[in-house]
Amino acid sequence: MCGIVGVLGDHEVAPILVEALKRLEYRGYDSAGIATVNAGRLDRRRAVGKLVNLSDLLVHDPLAGKSGIGHTRWATHGAPSIANAHPHRARRVAVVHNGIIENFRALRDELVAQGAGFESDTDTETVAHLAQVFLDQGLAPREAAERTLERLEGAFALLFLFEGEDDLMIAARKGSPLAVGHGEGEMFVGSDAIALAPLTHRITYLEEGDRAIVTRAGAQFFDDQGRPVNREIRTIEIDATRVEKGGYKHFMAKEIAEQPSVMGDALRHYISESGEIVLPGGGIDFTRVSRLTMVACGTAYLACMTAKYWIEQLAGLPVDVDIASEFRYREPPIPEGTLAVFVSQSGETADTLAALRYCADKAQRIVSVVNVPESSIARESDLALPILAGAEISVASTKGFTCQLAVLALVALEAARQRGTLDAPTLARHIEDLRSMPGRLNAALATEPRTEAIARLLSEATDVLFLGRGAMYPLALEGALKLKEISYIHAEGYASGELKHGPIALVDNTVPVIVLAPHDRLFDKTVSNMQEVMARGGKVLLVTDARGAAEAGEGVWQCLAMPEVPELFAPILYALPAQMLAYHTAVAKGTDVDQPRNLAKSVTVE
Ligand code: F6R
Repeated sequence: MCGIVGVLGDHEVAPILVEALKRLEYRGYDSAGIATVNAGRLDRRRAVGKLVNLSDLLVHDPLAGKSGIGHTRWATHGAPSIANAHPHRARRVAVVHNGIIENFRALRDELVAQGAGFESDTDTETVAHLAQVFLDQGLAPREAAERTLERLEGAFALLFLFEGEDDLMIAARKGSPLAVGHGEGEMFVGSDAIALAPLTHRITYLEEGDRAIVTRAGAQFFDDQGRPVNREIRTIEIDATRVEKGGYKHFMAKEIAEQPSVMGDALRHYISESGEIVLPGGGIDFTRVSRLTMVACGTAYLACMTAKYWIEQLAGLPVDVDIASEFRYREPPIPEGTLAVFVSQSGETADTLAALRYCADKAQRIVSVVNVPESSIARESDLALPILAGAEISVASTKGFTCQLAVLALVALEAARQRGTLDAPTLARHIEDLRSMPGRLNAALATEPRTEAIARLLSEATDVLFLGRGAMYPLALEGALKLKEISYIHAEGYASGELKHGPIALVDNTVPVIVLAPHDRLFDKTVSNMQEVMARGGKVLLVTDARGAAEAGEGVWQCLAMPEVPELFAPILYALPAQMLAYHTAVAKGTDVDQPRNLAKSVTVE
């Protein structure tokens, strides 16, 4: 949350900062701002709302300078306003920040007592005033930044820019990611490598506690004790076309449509031509695992819930699934033989990272399933399994979810192989079924016109329920999450058998009930629950296949027929109608699909 960027360039930096911020806007869009040093003079421009407002402001009120920092905000402390927009500044220093300074109230009181005048409600402004106090004591910028950092508690990625210093930025990382980009006589800093992709592919990731003193000649790195450290420069290849809309109206539409192709990439990465599963880095020895603990947030958590059905059923391994923000403070015991698995698209989610560190402290072997291979979660894992979905820009996760499912399905099958819980022909059939998923996803995408028509009807609703049984239950939760986050329609997902234990009281003829029910061994049970809804006047949208539609489609409000899919992997395919319904409902309602209100893509605060 919040994107930060810095450039020591060889020409005007404002447009470069704005371009880089565009690639970080997925991290927050409550306000944006930049600061530059021009002929030694520090100045800034800030605007509330989307980045386009800052761009417009810069047209009328440009900002010169070849050194600058920028920020796109997801508000934590203080409402979105100009005063609360970053960069924050004291007289001779400007800062941009991602994270939360937890002791900011005490620092602020102390600084106010010393005469500092605060303009904002943010935690970040304390950092600027604190640095100014040290500058006033005669310390050089580097020492002033160091002394400031010593006083800060909480999580941060911080970037300092100083009046009178055209060739200096100071970056610091504690808990929030930060990358330094190396150019030719130019240097860059950004929250991630995507922000810097068109500027340079040569990236150094700051480790936890690191500071970087950046000049045009290069960067020097220091650990949290101030000792010089060597940090590797990696060459990161980011396919720029994956960061463009490519003719689609929204990133979400593009990312939904990309699913067959990116899932194909992921499956080819993990399945050899002869049909064997190959996990990188020596894989996982499942013969020594007696249970799994899977931890994640949001949609990634729902991928874990789905995987629980697969791993328990196929490999006979018990699985605990936890929401990271609960897991980290519950301090659960981790019995011998537990494998801890963390799932995260961004690889930067603060709670998931904290849960990972909790398990690492207990000397657990850490496995992660991530999309961003250079992310903190990937780098702090013993084994990182990439999902290879490519950059996911839309705030609502789509291809990230289905690629997580594909990789987790492979993990379940590999566990079953090693533990001998599946015979070879059955295993081979499941692997073949999984390989057939990209083609089936294409067929599911072909139902889009019908989904769109139904979505127009759904957009009239104020409440929607999703039902599913077995592995379709987590998908009911995912369908509801997707719908509410982008269309703002209140939606809940339930296990279909659970409805009569309370939620059925919500059913009336104004509440569409979306039943996710492929014609599988649980179909009749789900249909009974559906009948209970219809008997109470509920409007049912049945999402099923041709057999399901023939058997139970009559009398329902709407029926959406999906292509046939092997029962085991139905959650992967049925994710697509859930995503398309949410997408088209949001489009019909005219909401901001890619950047829904109050949300951000990368949740780096707890
Ligand atoms: C919902 C969504 C979020 C994320 C959650 C975890 O569409 O995208 O619920 O799934 O914030 O994010 P990652 O996977 O990056 O850890």
